[in-house]
This record gives sequence, C-alpha cells and structure tokens, in this order.
Amino acid sequence: MTGEAPDRVASDGAGEVGLSDDALKVGRYFPTHIFSVKVPGCQVLNERLIEAIHAEQERDRTGVRKSNYPQLGGWHSQTKLHKNAAFAGLVQYVNAATDMMCRKLGYHESYRLNIGTMWSIVNPPGGSNRAHVHPGCIWSGVYYVQAPENSGGLEFIDPRTENLMSPVKYIPGTKRPRDCWTKVRFKPLAGKMLIFPSWLYHGVGPNKSTAGGKDADRIILSFNLSQVRRRKPQQHRPAGDPP
Ligand SMILES: [Fe+2]
Repeated sequence: MTGEAPDRVASDGAGEVGLSDDALKVGRYFPTHIFSVKVPGCQVLNERLIEAIHAEQERDRTGVRKSNYPQLGGWHSQTKLHKNAAFAGLVQYVNAATDMMCRKLGYHESYRLNIGTMWSIVNPPGGSNRAHVHPGCIWSGVYYVQAPENSGGLEFIDPRTENLMSPVKYIPGTKRPRDCWTKVRFKPLAGKMLIFPSWLYHGVGPNKSTAGGKDADRIILSFNLSQVRRRKPQQHRPAGDPP
C-alpha cells in the first residue's frame, strides 16, 4: 500500500495506453478461394455451346429439378454433358484452368482435378436458383455462355456461419474491408468462368433481363471436380518384347 489513489479505469476501456501503428498484426487463415478465368476469344465457343445446349434442350425438354425452379421456366439439363463431344471446347478450358489451380495450390502432381459432372442451366426472365452446395466433390465451377444485362448475379454466402450470428456495426458510408464481407455477388459475364469450393453456399438472383426472345436467357454450364490420379503415359515397347 502506497496510500496513492488507484489508477482510474476508463469505463469504455479505450485510450488508456498507446500502441505504435505496426504493433497490431493480423494473420489470415482458412481463406475461401474463388478463382476466375476469362476465356480468350469466347464468342465462337459460346455460339457453338448455345447451339449444343439448345439441341440438348430440344432432346430433353423436361430436364431435371435441382436448384432451378421449373415452374419459373428454369431448365436444368442432365449432368453428363462433358461426355458429349459438342462440349469438348469448354472441357479443354476447364482442364487448363484446373491444372493451373493444382499448381497454385500445391496439389500432388500425380493427381489432377477431374470433371465428374457437367450440366447446363437456362434461366429465362424470372428464373433463379435457390442457395445450395454441391456435395461429393472438391471444387465446382460455372461458365457463362450467355449473360444479358440484369440476368441474375451469383451470390456466395460467408461459410463462417458463426460470423453471421452477431452482426458488427461498421462506420456508416464507408466500404467494408473485403475480409469482413458476409456475402459477395458476381455479375455474370459471357466467357467468364468461376471455380469455387463445392461446400460454399451460393444462389442466383432472378433474371430481370429485358432483351428480346431467347437473347434474354441466362445460359450457363456448370461442373463438379474431384481429385483423381493422373494416367501414366503409355510406355512404348519395342516389337518382340514380352508384354
Ligand atoms: Fe451451384
């Protein structure tokens, strides 16, 4: 006991001690990667893909019900389009992009990302897709074949659901730091491909395009990716060698 008055503690806990600007460090862990690629010279590719998708729609008018709303006209194709030669042009770009991802992420070089399923969704005006995830794979992707203005953004939701429990107040009128976003919306753009974790919840807003006829349709191809072992190159055996 010194007989001196005890230090006052500020009721708001602020301003008692000073720290230098560089005293506060931040580590960023568990990031959520969303890769994007703009396919070069996509116009010809897209024209061919639209033709192939319309042919598929003609062949299978009912399609399947997944995240789409058939009652709003949203058509979802069968899921093996990557086996159809008409979609080979896009498959090549997906493989090129995923090979780059594997290198960037340090994946074992004996493995590659393999398209397990690929499908198309056509949303006419009014069509949308409910929020969903893609179970059973690692990465999923979308390629925009036709994306008229206002045809519905792709919205991803913060996977840290605990982070949505107690909304934080930010300085009004300022842009929130990207690290603190709880959702992000991508505007569709023909020729653009996005690849995102399959567990990341996402949905598509309503197509509000005012373009005429089929030009108003929002047309995408989507795919799921899993890691599989690369095939070993065939070894050439000189004639006469035992098999
Ligand atoms: Fe999806």
